[in-house]
Amino acid sequence: MRLKTLKEELELLKESHLFRTLKRVDSDQSSRITINGRELISLCSNNYLGLANHQALKDASIAAIRDYGNSAAASRLISGNMKIHERLEDVTAELKGTETSLVFNTGYMANAGALQALADEQDAIFSDALNHASIIDGCRLSRAKVFVYHHRDVPHLRSLLSMAAGYRRRIVITDSVFSMEGDIAPLPDIITAVKDHDAILIVDDAHATGVLGKTGHGSLEHFGLTDNGIIQMGTYSKALGSFGAYIASTKQVKEYLINKARAFIYTTALPPSVIAASIAAIKILKEDHEILNILWRTTRLFGERLKSLGFNTLDSETPIIPILTGGVEDTLLFSKRLFEEGIYAAPIRPPTVPEGSCRIRTTVTAAHSESDIEFCSGVFETVGKELRII
Ligand SMILES: Cc1ncc(COP(=O)(O)O)c(C=O)c1O
Repeated sequence: MRLKTLKEELELLKESHLFRTLKRVDSDQSSRITINGRELISLCSNNYLGLANHQALKDASIAAIRDYGNSAAASRLISGNMKIHERLEDVTAELKGTETSLVFNTGYMANAGALQALADEQDAIFSDALNHASIIDGCRLSRAKVFVYHHRDVPHLRSLLSMAAGYRRRIVITDSVFSMEGDIAPLPDIITAVKDHDAILIVDDAHATGVLGKTGHGSLEHFGLTDNGIIQMGTYSKALGSFGAYIASTKQVKEYLINKARAFIYTTALPPSVIAASIAAIKILKEDHEILNILWRTTRLFGERLKSLGFNTLDSETPIIPILTGGVEDTLLFSKRLFEEGIYAAPIRPPTVPEGSCRIRTTVTAAHSESDIEFCSGVFETVGKELRII
């Protein structure tokens, strides 16, 4: 691409208010963060359980550096497969109720890698219209025929599955908790449709692991379901306050991915410090159910306050609570005004969300106090009225 074209494209983004810049955080990641020398309440991290800054995770990382060094120094298939990686795979399988699991370096790579490995031109993938970008990119990488079904619309999914009977493998993939909407996929109905059509189901539990279910095991626990042959993807980087991702499934799927998933094969294994933090986080989740209770109390409090103020929070049922603002300019202004009042909540614009459905994506965590929520509700009321959103 010619440099002039890059410049023109950037200008175009600026003109349409879709230009993105990085904000620098000068503090650790907690309910409060420091930006431009100002302390703000953060309403946009995925640190749902407040573990990103937890002492036990830090201690585990430091101990792993002492025991195993800084780097895995090679990909898993060469010499980077250390005892600690296999330990994390064992505790993850236990958490997800599956035979085994396989660690990937990021959620993006897990989705892209799994779809690229499991599907090719002979196959069809059925993907919810609001699935995460990593799933969309995985679909493209696979070269499979892609059928996009309307958001959470199981009758539509069923009709597409019926139309596409001739493919070798048919894979249905859905976020369990949608990252920009905070709503939940109707998994029991999806599972029935998948069984009726002899398809394979992959569920992205990135925002459900450590959040949904009585003990935070994820979407299957939320619905009272068991393994059911579902391939469960999830991340350690959100509620678990660490980094990386997994595919939890059978030994056969694991062997297949080890042999076929390029995002697993051609990359250096995660460092021991990161793996150790993930193991420590899963241990906390297992032993301390109070943080999960706090997260849900805070979620209900903020969700109910925003709704009672008259904001459109879509069908959010989780700590991800979007506030629909509509146009790009209003959304940017809303976020700017929140910033001025002491809150950081990111404006979400196309292409992350469809045109005309810009929003302020808020997330609450177990690290937020009731007084934080009261303060935020007050600011949202002021700014919402000022900008005539409510
Ligand atoms: C639903 C969903 N899947 C996958 C990912 C990717 O995970 P990671 O950040 O570990 O790459 C994200 C967010 O980043 C997500 O929201």
